[in-house]
Amino acid sequence: MTVSDVPAGAQAPSLETLLTRSSNNMLTEPVPSDRDLETIFQAATRAPDHGRLRPWRFVVIKGEARQEFVKVLQAATKARKPEATESDLKLLANKFLMQPMIIAVGAKVTEGKIPEIEQVLSAGAAAMNILNAIHALGFAGKWVTGDNCYDPNVNAALGFTRPDRLIGFIYVGTEKMKLPAMERPNPTDFVTEWKGPAAG
Ligand SMILES: Cc1cc2nc3c(=O)[nH]c(=O)nc-3n(C[C@H](O)[C@H](O)[C@H](O)COP(=O)(O)O)c2cc1C
Repeated sequence: MTVSDVPAGAQAPSLETLLTRSSNNMLTEPVPSDRDLETIFQAATRAPDHGRLRPWRFVVIKGEARQEFVKVLQAATKARKPEATESDLKLLANKFLMQPMIIAVGAKVTEGKIPEIEQVLSAGAAAMNILNAIHALGFAGKWVTGDNCYDPNVNAALGFTRPDRLIGFIYVGTEKMKLPAMERPNPTDFVTEWKGPAAG
């Protein structure tokens, strides 16, 4: 990437961004501006994509629309779990309404040569780029799923009907507070060097 590829106003990507990102769901306003969102989705659509299928889809939910979104979640939860109490539904509503912005990320799956998993993985890579981009811009976020993410009614309300897949909700905003730093694993615990089948 050359410097001229970096959109005006955006910081050049840095390794520090990747090494300092952490999730936070204690978020408030301000949320990324439309201009910031453009940059964020530019980063998202840099995700690797087998076959140029462009499977990623991003649905921004903010402002008043969050109330409508919560109604969809509550109706889906009630249909799935008739035993859910009013208090359960209120808790669910609060969980989402406390987030100033939500980006639902999904994959528009094209049936054919490229396996579905690769298209879903590409959407996952886009989601990761969103998390890194919001961090680079000084915002924070968290990727969550839960039963509603896999509920066909919720999927349909956001424009994902099979074979398409909703892969998560990314909460986005400004940190209300820093969460305690999470202990990070030692990367070498996850890495081996393969030296051939005979090496055992
Ligand atoms: C596909 C996916 C789904 C996730 N769903 C949830 C979730 O529903 N609730 C939750 O608390 N964390 C969920 N997480 C984990 C958080 O996004 C986050 O990674 C975790 O809290 C660790 O924080 P870190 O990103 O700072 O390492 C999910 C992560 C992934 C990749």
